[in-house]
Formats: sequence, structure tokens, C-alpha cells
Amino acid sequence: MSVNMRASGPLAIVALAAALPAFAVEFKSALDDSPLDLGSIAGEQLTDAVKSFHATGTNPYIGNAEAVAEGKKLYDANCQVCHKPDGSGGMGPSLIDDTVVNARANTDVGKFEIIHSGAAGAMRPFSKRGITQDQILKLIAYIGTLKK
Ligand code: HEC
Repeated sequence: MSVNMRASGPLAIVALAAALPAFAVEFKSALDDSPLDLGSIAGEQLTDAVKSFHATGTNPYIGNAEAVAEGKKLYDANCQVCHKPDGSGGMGPSLIDDTVVNARANTDVGKFEIIHSGAAGAMRPFSKRGITQDQILKLIAYIGTLKK
């Protein structure tokens, strides 16, 4: 009787992820710098992309064609009325030139804060209009493609 002594496959390396330092981005309101409660949308499921963004501040949807296409639909439905279909600005500022109204709009974390919880004047908090955090990341990925 022969016993198959084939070695089991390589063990999964799990220690690496656990060894990474615990790091999380602090999200703050663009209006008053108060901490944002990102669990505040009733019943919202946080996707892996959102969890990753909360931890790293890097938007995993940048360059993801499917996410960008969804971002375009969301943008056309919710944003172009003020920012124009090409992002060049109307009653809201241009999203595609090199200047920003709100200094934090220079980073994806800042854009997220503004879209989620609003900025001055007509820029309302979209978290209160049924836009999920996952959708905000897709919107940001799409806006990035409008830049010249
Ligand atoms: C009713 C008009 C209106 C709508 C709709 C609107 N915005 Fe805005 N948005 C503004 C205004 C006005 C500002 C400038 C706010 C300020 O002065 O701080 C702004 C600012 C911004 C900024 C920061 C730009 C900067 O230079 O500081 C981003 C990013 C942004 N909007 C994205 C969006 C996205 C994405 C949507 C759709 C989900 C959207 N906006 C919908 C009016 C609007």
C-alpha cells in the first residue's frame, strides 16, 4: 500500500497584513472641521473599496473603467447641473482646472469630505441625498477622467 506523501501547498501568508501598522484617515467636515461619522447613512453597506479608502485615503476606483462608467451616470444625474457636463463649472466651480475653491479639494480625501458632507453655499451634503460612500468614490474616479 502506497501512501501519498505529497506535501501540502504553500501556506498562505497571513502575518504580513496583521503586521501592518493600524492607520486610518481622519475625515472632517469641509464646513467646520468636525469629525465625520462615516457610518451615518442608514443601512449603508461599506464596500471593500470604501473600507480601503477609510484606511489609506487612496481611491481604489481610480482607473477602474466599470467604476468610472458608474461615476459618470451619477455625475450626470446629480452634479452636472452646477458643475457642467465636462466639469468646467457653472454655478459650482470648475472641477477640472488647477485651482480649487476649498483647499482640501486638492486631495481625494478632501473631495470625499466635500461630496459626502457638503461645502459652502449650494454644495449640499450628498450623503443626505441617498449617495453612498461607494458611489462617492466612483464619482471622484470619474471626475479625475475629466481633467485635461
Ligand atoms: C446646486 C449646485 C451644486 C450641485 C448640484 C453640486 N455642486 Fe459641487 N459645488 C457647488 C458649489 C457652489 C461649490 C463651492 C463650495 C464652496 O464654496 O466651498 C461646489 C464645490 C464642489 C467641490 C470642491 C471644488 C473646489 O474647488 O473647492 C467638489 C469636488 C464638488 N463640488 C463636487 C460635486 C459633485 C461630485 C457633485 C454631485 C454629486 C456636486 N458637486 C453637485 C455646487 C454644486
